[in-house]
Amino acid sequence: MEKRIFGKTGLRVPTIGMGTWRTFDVRGREEERRCYQIVDEALRVGANFFDSSPMYGEAERVLGEALRESRDRALIATKVWAGSLREGKNQIQRALRFFQGRVEVYQIHNLLAWQEHLPVLEELKAEKKIQVIGATHYSPSAFGVLRQVMETGRIEAIQIPYHALERTVEREILPLAESLKLGVIVMRPLGEGMLVRRQPEVKELEPFKKYGIETWPQILLKWILSDPRVHVAIPATSKPGRMTENAQAGNPPWFSEEDRERVCYLARKVI
Ligand SMILES: NC(=O)c1ccc[n+]([C@@H]2O[C@H](COP(=O)([O-])OP(=O)(O)OC[C@H]3O[C@@H](n4cnc5c(N)ncnc54)[C@H](OP(=O)(O)O)[C@@H]3O)[C@@H](O)[C@H]2O)c1
Repeated sequence: MEKRIFGKTGLRVPTIGMGTWRTFDVRGREEERRCYQIVDEALRVGANFFDSSPMYGEAERVLGEALRESRDRALIATKVWAGSLREGKNQIQRALRFFQGRVEVYQIHNLLAWQEHLPVLEELKAEKKIQVIGATHYSPSAFGVLRQVMETGRIEAIQIPYHALERTVEREILPLAESLKLGVIVMRPLGEGMLVRRQPEVKELEPFKKYGIETWPQILLKWILSDPRVHVAIPATSKPGRMTENAQAGNPPWFSEEDRERVCYLARKVI
């Protein structure tokens, strides 16, 4: 799997990582075991970047358990999602316990109370408990505020939505991220599953075989990573086997502009 240098942070991240929203919000032996299996598979195929949040219920705990013996091989990107400083500090203490005392990328979820959480994260960075501070938002309506936060110079990474049918970030966010040398994480790379519910016809996927991939989800993921301003896409899955499939999209050669446009056309057609 190709690794990219995460902006100016120096961190080497895999192009394909994994999200945990909904899929890892589980309780009980069987369900949790399935999550451990998915994490082991992700590590095996080199997709060792895992995104979580206290907003995702049990996900941070389950992910932490899954990595109990293999924490050193993983990069954790989690978040603080709290309206108050006090609640935020509690969330961070809990997450540091789940992840054995350190988190590689700590993000402010949906920019909630960002002015309050930023100094806390800066302190943790000075103590070397976290490496990179980031901010996330899922909605283009918040990109004005996200730009402001990026311009403070106090964050080194962003997490934003980007796929063949959601290209708003191309206008201002990605150019700004590139000029500030920020790490870029892409959330919802499969449109929360919406883009893969229906698939183009087999013959329409033929032209993409020359890029070393065969399936529609791989094509959608490779579309994102063919933009060099992106560092890592984090598809979520509840099924063993998918991370192996998804990871295959994380290697060059990357799509030409013409083939990228072709993917957009196909995505519009199947939606
Ligand atoms: N504000 C924020 O910061 C924010 C907001 C939203 C999301 N996120 C992060 O981004 C991550 C990803 O977004 P998401 O979970 O909303 O959606 P997503 O990754 O775009 O899509 C997930 C869906 O895709 C399906 N899928 C994955 N790989 C597949 C494959 N190879 N073939 C067919 N189906 C496949 C999964 O179904 P199966 O379970 O059947 O595989 C799942 O239903 C989240 O988990 C979270 O970590 C962050």
